[in-house]
This record gives sequence, C-alpha cells and structure tokens, in this order.
Amino acid sequence: MGQSFWEQLHLALTLLLLNLGSAVTGDAHHSCYGVPGLPGMPGLPGKDGRDGLKGAKGEPGIPATPATRGPKGMKGEPGSPGLPGKTGPMGPPGAPGDPGSPGMAGEPGMPGSYKQKHQSAFSVTRQTGEHPLRNIPVVFNHVITNTNHDYNTTTGKFTCRIPGLYYFVFHTSQTANLCVILYKDEIKMASFCDHKTNTMQVSSGGILLHLDTGNQVWLTVNDYNGMVGIGNSDSIFSGFLLFPD
Ligand SMILES: *[C@@H]1O[C@H](CO)[C@@H](O)[C@H](O)[C@H]1NC(C)=O
Repeated sequence: MGQSFWEQLHLALTLLLLNLGSAVTGDAHHSCYGVPGLPGMPGLPGKDGRDGLKGAKGEPGIPATPATRGPKGMKGEPGSPGLPGKTGPMGPPGAPGDPGSPGMAGEPGMPGSYKQKHQSAFSVTRQTGEHPLRNIPVVFNHVITNTNHDYNTTTGKFTCRIPGLYYFVFHTSQTANLCVILYKDEIKMASFCDHKTNTMQVSSGGILLHLDTGNQVWLTVNDYNGMVGIGNSDSIFSGFLLFPD
C-alpha cells in the first residue's frame, strides 16, 4: 500500500519547517548544517484495508456414520383412514328384559258343558244262579245304569274315559264261600272274603281309586266263588266318578 495523501502532505510540511528553521537560525559562520529537530508525533492509525481475496475451498468433512442419528424431524400429517376391520365374535347374551305389561282380557269362552262331559256312573247286576268262573272277570250282564257304556257287559270290565277319582262298590249274595277281588289293570287292589254261615248272606266292599284314561277295573272270584243273583238275592256292581281331574 502506498502512503496516503495526508501522510505525504505531513512529511512535506515537516521538511519545509526544518528548512525554514535552518534559514532563520542559520549562521554561515558557524555551520552550514542546523541541529536536527525533534522527531514528530506518531501519525494517526490508517484506515482498515480492503477485504482480501476469497480463500481456497476447505477439506471435505468427515463422512457421517449410518449410526449417526439426525435431529428429530417435524411431526407429519395424519395418514388416510384404513379399511374397516373384520367383524368381531358375538358377545355374550344380555340380561333378560323386564316382563311386559299384561295383555288385554280375552273374549268370554264358550259355555261349559260340565254335565255332559264329566259323567260316568254305572250299576250292573249279575242275574244267574250259576257260580262265576274263577280268576276271570265276573260279568254283570244286566244294566241298571251305564252312562256311555263305560261298563262293558260282554267283557265285565269298566274302562275309564274321564280321568279322576272314582268310587267302586259291590254287594253280592252268596250261597257258598266267596272271595271278591277288585282289579285295576291286572293289579289286585282289594280282596273281600266271606265264609258262608247262613243259607243266604250278603257281603260288600268299596274302594276309591284314581284312574287315568284307559284304566280298567273289574271283579274276579277265586276258588271261593259262591256268588249268585237270583230272586230277591242280587249281586250288584256299581261305580261312579267322584271328582274329575
Ligand atoms: C265290549 O267289548 C267287546 C270286546 O272287546 C267289544 O267288541 C264291544 O264293542 C264292547 N262294547 C261296548 C259297548 O263298548
């Protein structure tokens, strides 16, 4: 850098002053050269120089290792909604609901026919002087009362048509020893035996039985079979429905 204009001017003025001093104090007799002046005051610092040229490109940096993790990025936008999932398994059944309110009253029913539907009663007599055969149903062959033919005068059996509680009773005249056994479907329900002590005597027995539809009831005799139905000595078998189910 060369000296600035002001620095050059300063130097020139200094030299001029030196020459003037020499001229004022100069004495041709004593010396041709004057005494050197005191050094001047240091000049003011110069201004900053202009910017230097651009430096050379630096060495490449150390490559980053894969493990090096960069700073966390910004949160991304939410993705689009996915497809609906598969239907899950059926859950357990819920608790029973509250009972509903009672319904409306129904129409009045048809008039009952209790008298026609729930009747069963019979009274039958055995009109013969011959003793009955043992261990088979005794046939009472003469009908006094027999609603709906529930007692069969051919087989000697009563067949239940209306389930319920029935009462059966017999009164027999006998001319010899007699045992009367009442059966309900092959099951012996009651047995009444009487030894003959008079020329003619009467014995009897009764029973209450619950019957279902189809049950059959009959009487038998065993070796003591002196039952008769003659003149004023009847043998009669009766039964009737006491309470229907
Ligand atoms: C009585 O029983 C006999 C033999 O099972 C039968 O043929 C007849 O029809 C019955 N009678 C009545 C009135 O049911």
